[in-house]
Amino acid sequence: MEDEKHIEEFKKKTPKSQQLYIQASKHIAGGVESNVRIIDPYPIYMTHGKGQFIYDVDGNEYIDLLLGMGSIILGHNDPEIRQAVIDRVTKGGDVLGAPSDLAVEYAEKVKKPFPSMDLIRFCNSGTEATMNLIRIARAYTGKDCIAKAEGAYHGGHDYALHALHLTEDLLDGDPRNPPCLPYGSGIPKYITEELIKVFPFNDINATAEILEKNQDKLAAVIVEPVMGGGGLIIPKNDFLKDLRRVTEKLGIVLIFDEVLVGFRIAYGGGQEKYDVKADLTALSKIAGGGFQLACLGGKREIMEIVLPSTQGTAAEVTAGMTSAVQVGTYNGHPTGLAAGSKAIEILGRPGTYEYLEKISAMLFGGLRDQLEDKKIVGTVNNVGPLGQIYFDCDKADTWRETFALSEEKWNKFFYGGISKGVYFGIPHPDERFFLSKAHTEEDIQRVLDITDELLNEIKKG
Ligand SMILES: Cc1ncc(COP(=O)(O)O)c(C=O)c1O
Repeated sequence: MEDEKHIEEFKKKTPKSQQLYIQASKHIAGGVESNVRIIDPYPIYMTHGKGQFIYDVDGNEYIDLLLGMGSIILGHNDPEIRQAVIDRVTKGGDVLGAPSDLAVEYAEKVKKPFPSMDLIRFCNSGTEATMNLIRIARAYTGKDCIAKAEGAYHGGHDYALHALHLTEDLLDGDPRNPPCLPYGSGIPKYITEELIKVFPFNDINATAEILEKNQDKLAAVIVEPVMGGGGLIIPKNDFLKDLRRVTEKLGIVLIFDEVLVGFRIAYGGGQEKYDVKADLTALSKIAGGGFQLACLGGKREIMEIVLPSTQGTAAEVTAGMTSAVQVGTYNGHPTGLAAGSKAIEILGRPGTYEYLEKISAMLFGGLRDQLEDKKIVGTVNNVGPLGQIYFDCDKADTWRETFALSEEKWNKFFYGGISKGVYFGIPHPDERFFLSKAHTEEDIQRVLDITDELLNEIKKG
C-alpha cells in the first residue's frame, strides 16, 4: 500500500523505533498509547520536542507539524510555560483534590476570548469535556438525543463514536439524511439507534429538516466550528450562523466543540472567527498549554444545572438525581492550570495571530501554488495554522466529497516527509497538520522545498 522506496528509507532512518516497537508490543496493545498512533510499518517513538522540532529515539530531528495533535501552538517546551510549570511543581504541583487559586486565575483569563462562557468547569481531556456537556444539555432540556455532523470527531466516548471514519460502501445513498453507524464495536445498540441523529455539515436545509423532525427528542447539537473529521471542512455560506438560528428557534442547546480550533484559528476560536455564540463550549488542547487540561462552560442558566439541587424529594436530592453531576479527581490539575493559564496569557499578546496567519498563508498558499504549477489534481483546505492537503480531490467542502482523496498519494507525501525530516501531522489522510509560532519563515521555506520534491515524485507516479 505505502510507497516502498519511502518505507525503506523510513526503516533505515528509524532502527531504534523498530526495536522499541517489538518491545512495546509485548506490553502495550499495538505498541501505542492510542489507536491513531498506529502506523505502518511501526510507529516512530519520540523522545521530546523543542520549539518547532521533535526528536525520535534514533536522534532524528523533524520539523513538527503534528504539534501534540494540535495542542502546541507556541512551540514545544516554551520557556515561559516551562517556568510556570516548574514554579508550580516546586511549590507543590501534585493534585490537591480541593479548589485552587489557579482555577480562579484561569477562569478569568479564558472568559476574555470566550465570552459566551459565563460559568466554567474543568476536566482533563476533550473527550471528557464533550461528554460532560452532552449530559449537562440533557439535564437542562430534559431530552435525551443529540445530533452530530456526519464525519465529525468529538472524542472517544460512546455518544461521540458515531458516523465517522466510514467508507462510501457503508453509507446509504442519501447524503441529505445520513445514517447513524457506530465507529467500532462495544457501543450499546440503544445509543446508536435511539440517541444519536446525524446531519450533513454545510447543508443547512437538510440539517434544519433533521433537527425539526427530531425537535422533541433533541437536547443538543454538537458541532466543530471547522470540522476536523475528513481532514478540514470549512463552514460555508454562513452554515454556523444558520445553525445558531435554527437551534435557537427549536430550543436545542448548541454545543461548540472548540477542542481543536479554540485558540488556534483565532484567539477566541470558531466563535470569534465566525461571529457566532454557542450555548456551551468545550476547550482543551491549546487551552492546557501542552499539559492535561480541558475546560467546559457556557450560559449561566445551563451550567448551573451542575450545582447540587435542593429541588425534588429528599431522596432525589440526596441521590443527586436533580442535577447533572460533573466530577473528577484530577479536574483542574495544578500543572495543567499553570501551563494553560500562561499559554492563554502569551497568546493574547499583540501580533501572535497575525504572525500565525502570515506563515500559514506562506505554507498552505505555497502548497496550493505547487499543486497548480505541477497540474496535480488536489485541494488544500486551511483556516490559519490548521490545514490538510487532499490528493485527487478537487474540492473538499463536505465530508463525503473527501471520499475522492487518494490515500496512496497521501502516504507518499507523509512517508516522504518523514524521510526528508518533516512530520506531516496526524498520520492519516483524513487528519490534518498544524503550525506554531515557533516555526520560522525559513522552516516554512524548507518544508516547501521538500514538498516540491515530493510532489514531483507523486506527479511522476
Ligand atoms: C474536535 C475534537 N473534539 C474532541 C477531541 C477529543 O479530545 P481528547 O483527545 O483530548 O480526548 C478531539 C481530539 O482530537 C477533537 O479534535
